[in-house]
Amino acid sequence: MTTGRFHCRPIIASGYYDKMKHWRIDDVAWGAFDPGSVDPALVKLVKAAAMVERNGRDYALYLGGVFRDDPDFRNAANHWAEEEVQHGDALAKWATLADPDWDYAAAFDRYRAGYTIKTDADASIRGSRTGELIARCMVETGTSSYYTALAEATSEPVLKQVCKLIAADEYRHFKLFYDHMRRYLSRENLGVMKRLRIALGRIGESEDDELAYAYYCGNDAASQPYRHNRCTAAYMAGAMALYRYRHIERGMGMVLKTVGLPPRGRISAGATKVAWHLLQWRQRRFVQQLAG
Ligand SMILES: [Fe+2]
Ligand SMILES: [Fe+2]
Repeated sequence: MTTGRFHCRPIIASGYYDKMKHWRIDDVAWGAFDPGSVDPALVKLVKAAAMVERNGRDYALYLGGVFRDDPDFRNAANHWAEEEVQHGDALAKWATLADPDWDYAAAFDRYRAGYTIKTDADASIRGSRTGELIARCMVETGTSSYYTALAEATSEPVLKQVCKLIAADEYRHFKLFYDHMRRYLSRENLGVMKRLRIALGRIGESEDDELAYAYYCGNDAASQPYRHNRCTAAYMAGAMALYRYRHIERGMGMVLKTVGLPPRGRISAGATKVAWHLLQWRQRRFVQQLAG
């Protein structure tokens, strides 16, 4: 597929999954793009997100190994990965409109060369299939909240539309992994505390290399050395600033539901307050770190 300077490599066996997608890149009203309402800070975040999303197929390979004897889940994971790849391509297309000099293919090649996940696993790195699915639920909770916040933060109409479409997909992905998680939970019987530990562990990994390195490949020249702390701070200072209380409240409900606690009520209200203050504190720390 080629549109102007926007190039992407062909999608492997995409025809079957294409038919099942809820939307296609051509459905976006690209003609409504308004260069005057582009926020350059958001362009940097969108470029980073495009890298991570486009890497979805590697996760499907990994999940295919973990769930090797579960064809229903493997099929669902392959479909899921194609939707994630489309998220990357749609975000990259928008970033290329905002910055026509940006080379998506070259940036993604750099990302792939420097950031890899184990794709030939035969067991989950989370210790169980339930644990794996809890971790996937956390990722989808994060992306669902993030794209909702990004859609509300931008006044650029095309980015708003793209982020709303992606946020709806991410919520469906959450439900997909949640339903499979419930199925495995009935066999594997993980207690609430164990599920909570896995969930919190995966949330904490948002400051690992996946996003920071994507920010670097999407935004910095290859001649510039990669510095994890600086790239994490640059990404997080921008991304965390987009959230409003309501996004954290909704995300907390999804986290609590996943670990088997009531998604609404006193626990949820208290946890949301704590998470909101922690988020704001972390965001200020990242801003200070960048300035220092
Ligand atoms: Fe996505
Ligand atoms: Fe997703």
